[in-house]
Amino acid sequence: MHAHAPDSQAGGPQAIDPQAAGSRAPDPKAIDRYAVVGHPIAHSRSPQIHAAFAAQTGQRLAYDRLLAPLDGFAATVADFRAQGGRGLNVTVPFKLEAAALADTLTPRAAAAGAVNTLVFSDEGVLGDNTDGVGLVRDLEGRLACPLAGRRVLLLGAGGAARGVVLPLLEAGVASIGVFNRTRDRARELVAAFGQAPRTSALAALDDCPSSGIDLIINATSAGLHDSAPAVPHACLAGAQLAYDMVYGARPTAFLREAGEAGCARVSDGLGMLVEQAAESFRLWRGVLPDTAPVYARLRAEIDGTPATTPAR
Ligand code: ATR
Repeated sequence: MHAHAPDSQAGGPQAIDPQAAGSRAPDPKAIDRYAVVGHPIAHSRSPQIHAAFAAQTGQRLAYDRLLAPLDGFAATVADFRAQGGRGLNVTVPFKLEAAALADTLTPRAAAAGAVNTLVFSDEGVLGDNTDGVGLVRDLEGRLACPLAGRRVLLLGAGGAARGVVLPLLEAGVASIGVFNRTRDRARELVAAFGQAPRTSALAALDDCPSSGIDLIINATSAGLHDSAPAVPHACLAGAQLAYDMVYGARPTAFLREAGEAGCARVSDGLGMLVEQAAESFRLWRGVLPDTAPVYARLRAEIDGTPATTPAR
């Protein structure tokens, strides 16, 4: 595991500036530092993704993994910032704490109630959530599945589901039906979007529909345990695309079931992972990387490994 302990700064990343070489000692703060913080964190692919973005766009930065103690998220963030850190990605289980810690939230982070990207500046800490836009870009870009007018079935009512609602509404979907194993949580999710624009397009479903759905998005964590939410086969068969936010070398149980039921197309969430990273990179560096080659390389690597991982 590469946990970026705060004290590793002493011998930490050294800036190597060719123009200044020999004229003065390298300034360790000269290289912009970023990291992904979580618990656990060793599995995170974000350092690899951001290193590829940096190389592609000619940006000079360092991006590490940062293991925060479960009761030490705020202190870990404060340390990283005090040492000159410019921004953080935040993953399980700290996305809610990150929202509480930010001085300012973007509208999509406020709607999600969770933050996966922190930006540090003299003005304070900005919290954003790039998961939803990551999903939308993966659907509309790589998968060439335009969202305007689509009838969406959203499975799950946890943080992953909540994070994608506003970007899907903004992309112009005709409707989002939220179906969850625990029905009350679906109602709570929908109620939380009471003030959002186009909120009439959002509804909690007591029963999973068997027809009338174009796109099914699995935002449950069931795939992490090789299980799938119960969806009628007729619903899967009638949809143009079934998407699972979880990714792995093998199709998830949900994607296998969708394929067997006759769904036209299936995709896991690896593209969403890469796209949410690209949007974080844009926030920090002002340039949106080309995700296609980074996705292709990661796909090839992951297809050689057996793990199943959430796309966040
Ligand atoms: P996350 O932040 O990943 O969304 P979460 O808030 O714990 O995590 O939510 C997990 C979601 O996956 C919930 O919607 C959960 O359904 P319940 O609310 O009924 O618990 C859903 N989920 C997890 N395992 C599932 C399974 N085997 N079948 C169906 N839904 C499942």
